[in-house]
Amino acid sequence: MTRWKQEQEELNIQVDGRPAKIIQITDPHIFKAKKGSLLGLETRKSLEAILDNIQRQEINADLILATGDISHDQSPESYQYFAQTMDVLETPICWIPGNHDDVFQMSELLNSEYISRAKKINIGDWQIVLLDSSLTDQVYGRLGREQRTFLQKSIQSLTSKYLLPVLHHHPVDIQCQWLEPLGLEDAEELFEILDSCSSVRGLLWGHIHQMYDQYRGKIRMLATPSSSIQFKPLSKEFAADSESPGYRILELDTDGKIETQVKRIKHIEFTVDYTVKGY
Ligand SMILES: [Fe+2]
Repeated sequence: MTRWKQEQEELNIQVDGRPAKIIQITDPHIFKAKKGSLLGLETRKSLEAILDNIQRQEINADLILATGDISHDQSPESYQYFAQTMDVLETPICWIPGNHDDVFQMSELLNSEYISRAKKINIGDWQIVLLDSSLTDQVYGRLGREQRTFLQKSIQSLTSKYLLPVLHHHPVDIQCQWLEPLGLEDAEELFEILDSCSSVRGLLWGHIHQMYDQYRGKIRMLATPSSSIQFKPLSKEFAADSESPGYRILELDTDGKIETQVKRIKHIEFTVDYTVKGY
């Protein structure tokens, strides 16, 4: 059983010398309407299938990271539903906003026994720093001075051995031409900060609705399939993919390594409308 407590805006999770186990759930795009759908896929149904899959696998995670686009329409109902539904995992949950979200609504409505507002998580030998890259009414992202300063200060005061920053937008070109202008505008400034800190071992994001796993020097760069619709890798123009919704399991080892795998749900039929040409 994981022992955890929230101290102000920092969350401390004890893992007693074993690797920290984390599940990333990203881009569920929940609507106000119960049967609300994205490209023909009912997003509540898809998230519930993901949670069912997690429960069946008995992963026993120490932490869930919800990395943005939790709501598609910024409705209070979408956030209330998410908070209520995620509780079934009985695991601490931390979150960041995506381009579709309203950070103020999230702060107020993502409220439950398990959801924390903390943006710094100390877990085993690792610290996870959650960064807000969302901009009002924009699809692309930017950390801006405030978030970059938060990261810099976290690095300066770091007492953990390893650091894993997390954000919503992609900070590198993922070879999907249409997504290129929709990534992180101040990626160069972010990497300047990350390159100055040898404790950074990974960088994790959502937004691209597809899997990504590459190294940039010592930093493992990871992105994760959405728990709703998928985007086709290496596409010039917008294209939905026929892959199933998914999530990522991460094990942050005591030696600084990241063991990770993506899981996709297989046991449920979806009717994604692949002919839709927009997002
Ligand atoms: Fe998204």
